[in-house]
Amino acid sequence: MSNILVRAACGAVDWFNERAPGFMPFYRKHMSEYYAPKNFNIWYIFGILASVVLVNQIVTGIWLTMNYKPSAAEAFASVEYIMRDVDWGWLIRYMHSTGASMFFIVVYLHMFRGLIYGSYQKPRELVWVLGMLIYLTLMAEAFFGYVLPWGQMSYWGAQVIINLFGAVPVVGPELTEWIRGDYLVSDATLNRFFALHVVALPLVILLLVALHLFALHEVGSNNPEGIEIKKGPKGNRWSDKAPADGVPFHPYYTVKDLFFVSCFLVICAFVLFFEPTFGGLFLEYDNFIEANPMVTPEHIKPVWYFTPFYAMLRAIPDKLFGVMTMGGAVMILFLLPWLDKSPVKSIRYRGWLTKILIAIFVVAFVSLGWLGLQSGSTTQTWVARVFTFYYFAFFITMPIWTRIDSTKPVPQRVPEHD
Ligand code: HEM
Repeated sequence: MSNILVRAACGAVDWFNERAPGFMPFYRKHMSEYYAPKNFNIWYIFGILASVVLVNQIVTGIWLTMNYKPSAAEAFASVEYIMRDVDWGWLIRYMHSTGASMFFIVVYLHMFRGLIYGSYQKPRELVWVLGMLIYLTLMAEAFFGYVLPWGQMSYWGAQVIINLFGAVPVVGPELTEWIRGDYLVSDATLNRFFALHVVALPLVILLLVALHLFALHEVGSNNPEGIEIKKGPKGNRWSDKAPADGVPFHPYYTVKDLFFVSCFLVICAFVLFFEPTFGGLFLEYDNFIEANPMVTPEHIKPVWYFTPFYAMLRAIPDKLFGVMTMGGAVMILFLLPWLDKSPVKSIRYRGWLTKILIAIFVVAFVSLGWLGLQSGSTTQTWVARVFTFYYFAFFITMPIWTRIDSTKPVPQRVPEHD
């Protein structure tokens, strides 16, 4: 019996391969014969976790769309209907809202890994730039999504963000009107944001993620030592031509990833079932009140993942300069591969100067995130100014301090202890 099954399975595989001869080489190139460095650590899990969250967002998003009504008159009530009347609707909504915050948590950690291990350095500049394009699209996707429940924060958040475009010289007012599709945030705005959130941007993100991975697999992964395993000796137990310090991605890393994905899902389940609003951070309390153009909420603030940049905006008194600072803070990240002039990649082989400056950078970025959630008192504004200054100084002076900092010699092979 088992013989018959095996033969049937082999027959099916042969049948498939004859008709799609490109599939097996593709699978080998990206999975079973993609030789990843054998010394990956926990920092290398966040790319996979981001992919898992992306799938979650798409699947739960499709289910939410089945009952959501993209109109100013019905949107808020349709979300309430999903939460109360649709079978498992509350779970699907919380999976989507928790997923949004989890997406940014894993993407920020994924980017930070790039910073500490110099993953953006040659030859992975394109991987980084594509990652940055994903990050920008993700920000737009999250912003459009947040408007859809048509709560107070959805409405006023959209109002504030769209009005920022009004600071653009000459065309500002026309530009804001063009984005809104009306003289104020209205049904027309909600409709177009819905179209962008459920169709246009998910397609762009999927395409960019595919390009991101193809670009990575062309040059191969970096690792915590910052050693280019492709340049090292060849020959491992699977192939004479493969890098000696590489192991096949499948099954070695797929199995390892499965374990960490399971741990991650347990954490997500905890948030979902016990703390879905996460103290007002993942779902703001004001957004449980229907949008009212006549009543402004006391503190209009974006969701936590935008607050470091929002704090920078508020710290600058001039509107146009504030918008440029906020935009510049994101755009400067694109230049990272060219700002870092260090001859070594990983923080493990860099000097104390880099370590201290990166540690302060983390403090500055997290503090800005916290400050962006606060009311913005005079003291808070001044602290935000200091951290904004540090944020820019960190990047602008990077070509200098990465050159003058001491480095340790990088070994040819991945050290035994890894
Ligand atoms: C939807 C969002 C994203 C997904 C699904 C994703 C996926 C992945 C995956 C699966 C990997 C290989 C595994 C790993 O190294 O963790 C990877 C590597 C990488 N990603 Fe992303 N990524 C995303 C966003 C970003 C962003 C926003 C950046 C930076 C701006 C970025 C920069 C990188 C870099 C530099 C690498 C190579 C790391 C190395 O080899 O050391 N990614 N990404």
